[in-house]
Amino acid sequence: MMDKDPPAGLFRVEHRVTPADRRAMNGHGGGVLWLTGLSGSGKTTLALALEQHLSLKGYQAYVLDGDNIRGGLNSDLGFSPQDRDENIRRIGEVSALFAEAGFIAITAFISPYAKDRRRARAIDPARFREVHVNADLETCERRDPKGLYRKARQGRITDFTGISAPYEIPENPDLVIHTGNESVANSVSTLLGFVETEFGAAGSMDRVA
Ligand code: ADX
Repeated sequence: MMDKDPPAGLFRVEHRVTPADRRAMNGHGGGVLWLTGLSGSGKTTLALALEQHLSLKGYQAYVLDGDNIRGGLNSDLGFSPQDRDENIRRIGEVSALFAEAGFIAITAFISPYAKDRRRARAIDPARFREVHVNADLETCERRDPKGLYRKARQGRITDFTGISAPYEIPENPDLVIHTGNESVANSVSTLLGFVETEFGAAGSMDRVA
């Protein structure tokens, strides 16, 4: 994100507070933990629990969640392929800004298209980690926490991921969490370890992201 040439007519502004300054202040590097998976796979549950645990450990962490962001920044977008593309493009940029500001940005979006996830990674690959929150469709449909699968089967919701719209399974995720057969506590513990390895332990300077 730092080396990209600005479009014609724009001049890049350089911050006086450097990434190293921010690392020194926070004790850890910034990064994007990109959770992708079907509706009902557990992205939001894991993201919120992880945010809480990271905060207790002294990390600067913040969750960007599909249902919340679609009520604000992306309230102009629906669920067509084009709108999902734009939804993920904006979140890719916003999460990269959070990472640049020194945060661990945890994103919880279905992000069903591989090309959209690839583009989000390409903004700042060194700080981006893709996590597949993997529960099969049958499990997600059985859980149906929001009753949306039932509505989708009845045709009352169109373009529903897994039913009437595609989900492209990540081919090379940095981490896979199997939420169909493991406890939330186990999954969160794996994610905490992953963040510590990839972005550094809070309060230590042993890893420069
Ligand atoms: S994404 O595909 O563009 O990444 P996003 O994660 O922002 O989706 O939003 C998904 C949430 O929107 C779901 O958790 C669900 O609550 C709601 N939703 C409403 N309609 C749909 C739909 N047609 N497909 C998927 N999710 C939907």
